[in-house]
Amino acid sequence: MGILDKHKKIETHATLLMVLSFIVVTIGGLVQIVPLFYIENTIEKVEGVRPYTPLELTGKRIYEREGCYACHSQMIRPMRDEVERYGHYSLAAESMYDRPFQWGSKRTGPDLARVGGRYSDEWHQDHFRNPPAVVPESIMPKYGFLFEREIDGKYVADFLSTSATFGVPYTTAMIENATADFRAQVDPEGDAEGLEERYGKAAFGTPVNVRNFDGQDKLTEADALIAYMQVLGTMVDFSTFQPDLSR
Ligand code: HEC
Repeated sequence: MGILDKHKKIETHATLLMVLSFIVVTIGGLVQIVPLFYIENTIEKVEGVRPYTPLELTGKRIYEREGCYACHSQMIRPMRDEVERYGHYSLAAESMYDRPFQWGSKRTGPDLARVGGRYSDEWHQDHFRNPPAVVPESIMPKYGFLFEREIDGKYVADFLSTSATFGVPYTTAMIENATADFRAQVDPEGDAEGLEERYGKAAFGTPVNVRNFDGQDKLTEADALIAYMQVLGTMVDFSTFQPDLSR
């Protein structure tokens, strides 16, 4: 009896086929899933990646509220065309504190995973007020109203402590000083030492952007959204980054 004849037995016997298929799929599943229980962390920690500051976290919430993810992804795939257009492919660690994550797959507009530092704050101001003013063919909606909506960070500590319950490493000091840090980040003349100490170079290796992001005297949602745009993809220093290939 040849091998094909043996296989014919399986193919013509529905129950036998199902039982054997089940065994094959189970083995395949176990091979994939079991190792995950034995490695300490599936996400490799990468130097520089830190939780968002209170202002950046607020910006992320505005991004979610406005549905920016419906037109923009935040994940650069490791393929040549993407890497040449957007920069180094996204690392898992870079979105490990994003709750909910913003990877997405719809790209009516470009991927934003590395938009931080690509444009000036003024460019973002003009672009959010009226996208075609800077990119004539743009179909992006206008978000000028964000420049009118004042925010005071009164409840931002609650955002931080909620994120902390999901495992984002916000410390007690970060939560206690959340409102102060929120204001300090938009005030270049003020005292941002505490903010810098908690989120900056000493703690995570990269300084925090402290600027008047929306270019106005008041503190608005545009400040928070632009602060968020400007930090995206900038936490890891790719001139020194070495992937851990030992695993
Ligand atoms: C209807 C789809 C749509 C929505 C919604 C949308 N955008 Fe866009 N966005 C685009 C398109 C198309 C472009 C490319 C043209 C341009 O630069 O305006 C773009 C460009 C951008 C750019 C410039 C990116 C680059 O690398 O040049 C940024 C930043 C941006 N959008 C942020 C946002 C944010 C933040 C929101 C939510 C407040 C948002 N967009 C909502 C369609 C959208």
